[in-house]
Amino acid sequence: MENHNLKKIAETYKSDKIEHGYIEIYESYFHKLKEDNLIILELGIADGKSLLTWSDYFKNSKIVGIDIHKINLDEKNLNRSNIDIHQGSQSDEKFISEIISKYKEFDIIIDDGSHLSKDVKKSFQLLFPALKNKGLYIVEDIQTSYNHFFGGNPFDLKYSNSHMNFFKHLTDSINYQEIANPFYIKKKYDSQILNISFHHNIVFLKKGVNDRVSKEVINHSYEDMKFKEKTNRSGNNLRYFLKYKILFKTYTLFLFLVNLIKKIVLLRF
Ligand SMILES: C[S@@+](CC[C@H](N)C(=O)[O-])C[C@H]1O[C@@H](n2cnc3c(N)ncnc32)[C@H](O)[C@@H]1O
Repeated sequence: MENHNLKKIAETYKSDKIEHGYIEIYESYFHKLKEDNLIILELGIADGKSLLTWSDYFKNSKIVGIDIHKINLDEKNLNRSNIDIHQGSQSDEKFISEIISKYKEFDIIIDDGSHLSKDVKKSFQLLFPALKNKGLYIVEDIQTSYNHFFGGNPFDLKYSNSHMNFFKHLTDSINYQEIANPFYIKKKYDSQILNISFHHNIVFLKKGVNDRVSKEVINHSYEDMKFKEKTNRSGNNLRYFLKYKILFKTYTLFLFLVNLIKKIVLLRF
């Protein structure tokens, strides 16, 4: 990989993002942005090593850090013109809305705070609206999703309420237009996510308008799309009406009901 110096800077400040193996991954996303004028928010300051790293790397950007504990700027050498810090919890709605009122929008948000599933999900819910179009939302140390001492669940990986599963489910929002369920109800993040990348213990999500119309379904219906295609081509409406509007639709309704009953019985919503 090309050397863009993030590693050198992180070494200077002894950032533990090196040991975690995050620096090369960060560099691959950040090197194109390093000269830009950005607003970067990091949840979790501790000794300020990452804030100092970002402050050097993103020279033209504002680095905002928040931490639940009081951080002494002078003690941690954080007294720099491009660093702002605030005390408060990443999952406190009032505090986060004050942060959003002050900075309006962020280009990059990094969650390196409590790593508790409930906090990670809550912060995402509070901060996603303040992430700019094409902005990046990054969650570090996602391994806590596999640890019940952090609110994760190592015993039911597929259906737990962990933050890893939260992000896994968001991948469906990238393809929501393709879901061939005529009863599908558009979800909160559908059409707002361009991509999600999972690396070892770290997730990168890119916000953006993603509402490309499906080539397979019309309004989530495969049978309606097929009916339209076939009748446009041949004009034999009755035959295709019986096939797609009656037979295929009945089959889709049957599968919908089977899955609905399954979800009710297993309490999966
Ligand atoms: C892993 S450290 C942050 C390290 C820092 N980002 C770095 O790379 O140098 C986690 C920090 O999150 C803070 N923290 C814990 N719970 C929090 C919460 N609910 N809201 C905000 N910060 C929290 C802790 O006080 C701690 O300083």
